[in-house]
Amino acid sequence: MKVLVTYASKNGSTEEIAETIADELLAYGLDVLCRSAHDTDASDADAVILGSAVYAGRWLRPARHFLKDQSDRLRRMPFWIFSSGPFGEQATRPTEDDLRWQEPPRVLTRAESLGVRGHVVFGGRLPTEPHGFIENAMVRNTPEDTRDARDWSAIRMWAASIAHELGAQERIGRPVVSA
Ligand SMILES: Cc1cc2nc3c(=O)[nH]c(=O)nc-3n(C[C@H](O)[C@H](O)[C@H](O)COP(=O)(O)O)c2cc1C
Repeated sequence: MKVLVTYASKNGSTEEIAETIADELLAYGLDVLCRSAHDTDASDADAVILGSAVYAGRWLRPARHFLKDQSDRLRRMPFWIFSSGPFGEQATRPTEDDLRWQEPPRVLTRAESLGVRGHVVFGGRLPTEPHGFIENAMVRNTPEDTRDARDWSAIRMWAASIAHELGAQERIGRPVVSA
C-alpha cells in the first residue's frame, strides 16, 4: 500500500504537519511518500492525503490544482484532505463564520463529489518572520503562546485512524520525527 501525503505550504507549517502525518503512517508500516503538491501526482499512489494552508479563505494554488487535476485518480482511490490555518481564539472556539474561512466550502464540495473519506481542520502557525503590514499586524495582535496552534497529538491521531482504515493493525515503529 503506497500512500502519498501531499501538501501546499507558504511558510512551512503545513509542510511540517504533512511530514508528521507521513511519519505516523510510516510507524504503522505503510509505504509513504511526502511531497509538495506542486511537483507530484497520484499516479503511483494507492491512497492520498492532501492538505493545504488556508489564506484568505482559500487553499493554496498547488493543492487546488492537485485536487482538480488528479480528480479522475482520486475518485478511484481512498483519499483524505486537511486544511491548516486557525490560531488563537479561532482555533479553540471557532464561530460558524470562522469555520467558512478555515475550510474552503468549494474544496469540500469538490472533494465530497470525488468520495473523500474524511476531512479535518488543524490549527496553524502564524509566520515566524512576518512580511508586510497584514502579517505583522496579525502577529502583533496574537499573544505569543497562541501563534502556533498545531496540535501534534491530534495530527498523529488522525493519521493513525487513516492507517487503521487502510488496514494497518498496529504501530510497529517509533516516530522518526518528534514534533
Ligand atoms: C495573510 C494571512 C491570511 C490568512 N488567512 C487565513 C484564513 O482565511 N483562514 C485560516 O484558517 N487561516 C488563515 N491564515 C492562517 C494561516 O493559514 C496559517 O498561518 C497557516 O498555518 C500557514 O501555513 P503555512 O505555514 O504552511 O503557509 C492566514 C494567515 C495569513 C498570514
